[in-house]
Amino acid sequence: MGRLEGKTALVTGAARGLGAAIARRFTEEGAMVIVNDLDLEAARSTAGKLGGHGVAADVSDPVSVAAMFAELQRLVPRLDILVNNAGISGLEGRNDVDQIIAQRAKLAMELASGGPVTSFIDATTQTTDAHWRRMLGVHVDGTFFCCREALKIMNPQMAGAIVNISSVMGTFGRPGNVPYSTAKAAILGLTRALAHEVAPRNIRVNAIAPGWIDTDMTAPLGILRPHIAASTPLRRLGEPDDIAWAAVYLASEEARFMTGQVISPNGGWYMSQ
Ligand SMILES: NC(=O)c1ccc[n+]([C@@H]2O[C@H](COP(=O)([O-])OP(=O)(O)OC[C@H]3O[C@@H](n4cnc5c(N)ncnc54)[C@H](O)[C@@H]3O)[C@@H](O)[C@H]2O)c1
Repeated sequence: MGRLEGKTALVTGAARGLGAAIARRFTEEGAMVIVNDLDLEAARSTAGKLGGHGVAADVSDPVSVAAMFAELQRLVPRLDILVNNAGISGLEGRNDVDQIIAQRAKLAMELASGGPVTSFIDATTQTTDAHWRRMLGVHVDGTFFCCREALKIMNPQMAGAIVNISSVMGTFGRPGNVPYSTAKAAILGLTRALAHEVAPRNIRVNAIAPGWIDTDMTAPLGILRPHIAASTPLRRLGEPDDIAWAAVYLASEEARFMTGQVISPNGGWYMSQ
């Protein structure tokens, strides 16, 4: 008997990466999984391998999210688990990624060697309004919009589990990506407040704050990778399954006394969530 036998789950941004790993482990544990992503074909391709359904929606768009949940209710009779995983790093589509990574690597080396520091990451002054809004839109609006629609189903059920994907960047912070850290920190606030609100209905809301995990999102890290591995007590970047197993736990009855909590599989890179 699987740990999620008979459950129905929606995982956002699950065509690939952490979301796909979560969807795969959920399926193995007995859940029927609905895979969301921006691109319908990509969502269907991942869902098809799992015997689930693929649905397209941009989670930052409330109309798109409402339409996705209407479709979800046509496909399945209930919703037991929501994983808010869809996310962006902010490097997508940029043609200066190598330059950005080289600059961050230079600063990391200077700091590790005790200085002097001659590299400055002035990312904030170069952040456009559109970039800032998109980052908060996908992570914060997206998590909120999906929670809001999911609770319309979960509230009358008097049961449910929501898992929000934050990041170590939400608490630790790093130079170069203030919008991302801001968005991931906001997800932790949302998680705690919502956990209080829906606990009387037996709905649990928790967060996972992954460390550095090997996915398409972290593929551009290049020369920073050995530095990250070396500064991680367990000496490696994580694998998607390192996060998927935490999600299985939080979604399952094993976590029935867990709400408003943050679990951080990060290899020890940061030890105080
Ligand atoms: N990889 C890491 O090291 C790491 C660390 C901490 C947190 N995270 C978080 O984990 C989550 C998954 O990251 P990943 O590494 O698998 O990234 P990824 O880029 O491999 O996958 C992200 C998926 O989300 C989808 N997506 C993006 N914007 C969307 C939107 N508006 N609506 C619906 N889908 C959307 C993408 O199409 C993609 O399939 C993200 O929230 C990310 O911020 C990742």
